[in-house]
Parts: sequence; C-alpha cells; structure tokens
Amino acid sequence: MRQSEDEGAGPADATRAAEYYDAAWLDGVELPGTGIVGLMLGDQLHPPMVDDAGVWGDGARWVEGARECTRRLARMAGIGPADTVLDVGCGVGGAVRQVSAETGCRAAGLNVSALQLRTAASLGGPAGRVAYLLGDAQRIPARERAFTCAWTFNMFYHIPDKPRALAEMHRVVAPGGRLAFDDWVLTGDADEADRAGLRHHWSSPDWMTDEELLDAIRQAGFELRELQDYTDVGAGVMRRLFPSTYDRDFAPRIRALDAAWGQRMADDFRDAVQHTIDLYASGRLRYLQLVAERR
Ligand SMILES: C[S@@+](CC[C@H](N)C(=O)[O-])C[C@H]1O[C@@H](n2cnc3c(N)ncnc32)[C@H](O)[C@@H]1O
Repeated sequence: MRQSEDEGAGPADATRAAEYYDAAWLDGVELPGTGIVGLMLGDQLHPPMVDDAGVWGDGARWVEGARECTRRLARMAGIGPADTVLDVGCGVGGAVRQVSAETGCRAAGLNVSALQLRTAASLGGPAGRVAYLLGDAQRIPARERAFTCAWTFNMFYHIPDKPRALAEMHRVVAPGGRLAFDDWVLTGDADEADRAGLRHHWSSPDWMTDEELLDAIRQAGFELRELQDYTDVGAGVMRRLFPSTYDRDFAPRIRALDAAWGQRMADDFRDAVQHTIDLYASGRLRYLQLVAERR
C-alpha cells in the first residue's frame, strides 16, 4: 500500500499538467491542447530521440523521428494484434492510433486533459480499435487486469505520486502483461539547481533518478525485461542540430503566432530544451525506454 492510501487521502493534484497543455495561448494551431509542441511534432508530443542527423537537421522530419520512437517501444514490448494497450498520458492519441494501426492491437488513451482528448477523438483511428478515457494516472478509471500492456510515453515526469501511478498500472495489467515506458530521468549527479531548472521549464512537480525509477518499477510488481538508453542522442546529434533547426524552422512560426507573446514563447521553449541538452551532456539526465513484465 502506498502512504497516501494508508492515510486514506486521495492522490495528489494533477491539474497543473492539464492546465499546462490546455493553455489557450496558441490560437491558430490546428491541434487544440498541444501548444507549440504540436506545431513541431504534430500528434506525437515527444522529442524525436533518434540518432539521425537527417531528422534533427530538418524540422519537417521531426514528426517522422518521433513516430520512430513510438514504433521502437512498441517493437520492444512485442505488441501485436492480441494486445490491449492502455496509453497513460496519451496526449492527443498519437501513439494510440499509430500502435493500433501498425500492430493491430486495441488501444485506449488516458489523459487528464479533456481538451487533448477532444482533439484525439476528432482525429479518428482504426475503426473499433481505439478509445479514450478522461482520468488521472494516479487513479486509473479501469477495472483490474483489463489490459495486456500499460504504456506511458514522455509523461511520467508530470505525475506527482509516481509510485502510486506505477501501482495503478500494475493493477490494470493482467499477469504476464507488460509495462512499456519512455521518459527522462535524473542521474545521481543531478543537484537541486538541476531539479529547480526542470520544474521551472516543464511545469512538473519533480523528477526521479534512474535508480529510483527502476526501484519503483520493481516495488510496483514489475520485472525489468529490457532497457535502452538514448541519452547519447541528447548529448550528440540533438545538441549539435537542435538550436539551428529550431531557430530556422520553428522559432519564426512561433513568433508569428502572437505579436505580444510569440517571441517570449519561442525563447522559453528554446531555453527549456537547451537546459535538458546541457543536462544530457553533463551526465545529469538520461533518456530511457524500457519494458518490464508484470509479476
Ligand atoms: C508530453 S505529453 C506526452 C503525450 C503522449 N504520451 C505523446 O508522447 O504524444 C504529456 C501528457 O501527459 C498527460 N498527463 C500529465 N499528467 C497526467 C496524469 N496525472 N494523468 C494522466 N495524464 C497526464 C498530459 O495531459 C499530456 O497529454
């Protein structure tokens, strides 16, 4: 039992993440709820962590790189037509639609953001195989053992009570099922200033270290099957090419969105990503994808 359950309290408040993505400061972007990330990455709200200079050097190819990251995790998790996948923190359903279309699985997306879910639903997907649920990862609105795979992609850093969310994913996955996980985590070398910088830039309560994450996954009842580390992408090709590609292909479009705030938005996003790149390069942040099996 988690401490919060022992005390009878509800999960910590997750509305901060919903507010961040629902922010209405981007009139004119075609994917409501995705902010400027949608402008760069379409329906895949995660960075293209691929070791490919062609992708990082051309903003028009970032979506393709982000889709490859989704495909890579689906392959690692061995997702196929017999699977039922719950995407926890599904954004506008990019992975729900892609993984279902490419593997034949059935997939549901869970999100605290109602606006993103409305966008997800409007984008369709393989008929009869995709669905969306409004709710919090810390209290998943699904019966136990309902899915064969709990999937979470570039969102775990948002969750206030991470062990509780892992316990929930364990509860809704059938024995022998998998946890497919993608996120950035600190290393033991990170200090309070690094954490404060991440909180400032990404509107999230706190980050785990790699060791804390692996321990929490084990404690929740999953056994690690495979782990891949893409930190070198952040410290290498992303570090080399993100600034010039962003400045050429995206910053002008972001500036043009709003006469009063466009410049500020473009600069803030650049600073936020550059901060993560500096952390990757100095060994204080890692980008991981892993698959664990439910015991
Ligand atoms: C960076 S986006 C990633 C979206 C998606 N996984 C992707 O890669 O396209 C983070 C997502 O997590 C969702 N989120 C944040 N906290 C959540 C929570 N406690 N429960 C469910 N979803 C949450 C946000 O609303 C957003 O959709």
